[in-house]
Amino acid sequence: NLSLKMNDIQYQFVKKILNSSSHGAKEIGRAFAPSNIALCKYWGKRDDVLNLPCNGSISISLGEKGTFTEIKRTNKDVFVLNSQIMPSESLFSKRMTSFLDLFRDSCRAPGFEVITTNNIPTSAGLASSASGFAALVLALNDLTGWELANKDLSLLARIGSGSASRSIYNGFVKWNMGKSHDGFDSYSELIDLKWYELRIGILKVDEAEKKISSREAMKKCVATSKKYQAWPKQAEEDFHNIYNAIFEKNFLLLGQIAEANALRMHETIRDTVPSIDFFTNETYELLEKIKKIRKNGIEVFATIDAGPNIKILFLDKNESIICNEFSNIEIIKPFKDPNA
Ligand code: DP6
Repeated sequence: NLSLKMNDIQYQFVKKILNSSSHGAKEIGRAFAPSNIALCKYWGKRDDVLNLPCNGSISISLGEKGTFTEIKRTNKDVFVLNSQIMPSESLFSKRMTSFLDLFRDSCRAPGFEVITTNNIPTSAGLASSASGFAALVLALNDLTGWELANKDLSLLARIGSGSASRSIYNGFVKWNMGKSHDGFDSYSELIDLKWYELRIGILKVDEAEKKISSREAMKKCVATSKKYQAWPKQAEEDFHNIYNAIFEKNFLLLGQIAEANALRMHETIRDTVPSIDFFTNETYELLEKIKKIRKNGIEVFATIDAGPNIKILFLDKNESIICNEFSNIEIIKPFKDPNA
């Protein structure tokens, strides 16, 4: 049975991390993890059991937007998402169950009650698995008193969802692709730099039809898109350039590379057979509008994940201009200035 074998590989991976003994077990574990948006995207896996990527990625977390999770030991799994009990046959429950299977014996729990609340709309396709699995791992760590290091928390979250490995931290994060087959060198680290002037704007776009998950799309894209061949090498280049732009606080460079990276990912995705397009007409229109604003001298750049919604990057000095241009914008300050 293939899925049993997959689970066994994941189980062995998790066991190597959890060899530490528990310090102070609690009755309820609680945690928050932020959503993140990749500036250099993770797209394509070299191992889809351990979620090992074909390229490194860099993200920025979305401040207070993300997932709150509470976890308790029970006899039977119960999952509550945004105040609703999730049916056991739902995709959400299935992914939770198989992930939690990796932790039942170390937690001495046959089942778990997990209460998950996203403060970023799940329905608008904005809440991703990233903050969800990161919050779950952090909540397990709180429940059990494992007191794991961030590196180990990131490795565990990655098994749930690749992008979750980055949601362990607040701020700029880099996920090193790693080289080894065992997956222990593929984890995320905080980039120690605060950029108080940076702003992220969320532009919600209506979804015409149900989108395919990033996991499914990624798999199909790597298997059939002719353009995928060129992706890993170019993405590694973007990774280094974005990393340097962050340290130089070179906003123009950061924005240009991040936008080009996102658009290239979507071009590569559209080349999948049969074609997959996450953009709606509104997405294309907004992208044109962003270009136009840029022509008028305002530095604003777009990035888009596996959905139609756009996130824009700009600096605080342009905040009022940007607000006037986009009526439905939600603005996020990824870094809180203690002196502001
Ligand atoms: C487009 O992390 O959702 O958001 O590892 O299969 O769970 P799995 O994939 P996932 O993919 C995220 C893809 C992306 C880009 C990114 O966040 O880097």
